[in-house]
Amino acid sequence: MSVEEALKAFRRGEPVLIYDFDDREGETDIAIPAINVTPRDVAMMRKDGGGLICVAIHPVAADKLRLPFMHDVLRVASQHIPEISSIASFDIKYDSRSSFSLWVNHRDTFTGITDIDRALTIRRVGEVVDDVMLGKEFDFGSEFRSPGHVALLRAAETLTYERVGQTELSVALAEMAGIAPAVAICEMLDETTGRALKKDKAMAYAEENGIPFVEGKDIVAAYADFKEIK
Ligand code: 5RP
Ligand code: CA
Repeated sequence: MSVEEALKAFRRGEPVLIYDFDDREGETDIAIPAINVTPRDVAMMRKDGGGLICVAIHPVAADKLRLPFMHDVLRVASQHIPEISSIASFDIKYDSRSSFSLWVNHRDTFTGITDIDRALTIRRVGEVVDDVMLGKEFDFGSEFRSPGHVALLRAAETLTYERVGQTELSVALAEMAGIAPAVAICEMLDETTGRALKKDKAMAYAEENGIPFVEGKDIVAAYADFKEIK
């Protein structure tokens, strides 16, 4: 499936499946523009995806919202709580670092985990990202609390030029689509094998459900073209 089909789906606020690379995680994530996420979408991600539901955020918006990398939070915190320094994440198997930032809930949620609660948190993150990208000011703590049940991911500074996880791939796709660069993503797992869902099965799911399936290599190439033209 072409990147163009994925961009069209994103512009309509619809899901796209993003496979990274055979020599990286070899995983497929369900990706939906955060501003469009409904409780039904959260239910779909947890049932058909089954992985962790996160929101990937453009680095410009993350800076404006003062959203740090979790590894930086832990590094600073470990100066005061030395016991946590030993859990530092320096040995992930598929990349040089993780993209995790804070875990949040919108302050209007109750427990934060229900489909309704998570959709509210995700959607509002999307709206706030849209606002700050347009130059508006926003005090993140006025509406969100941490810890919470939605993991925020901070995309690398130059997106796919620097890192090619679904964090950057989904945000690059949003940037190319011209929509708010905040995307809810969730890995597709296979309950029969206990592993990540194989690419061919993810492609079959995409076909059955009329969802564009796009690969990391195609997004990387399209984003390079997009940046060159800009
Ligand atoms: C959070 C993850 C997922 O793999 C997600 O796809 C984002 O991470 P990355 O950008 O490293 O692929 O770790 O559940
Ligand atoms: Ca991933």
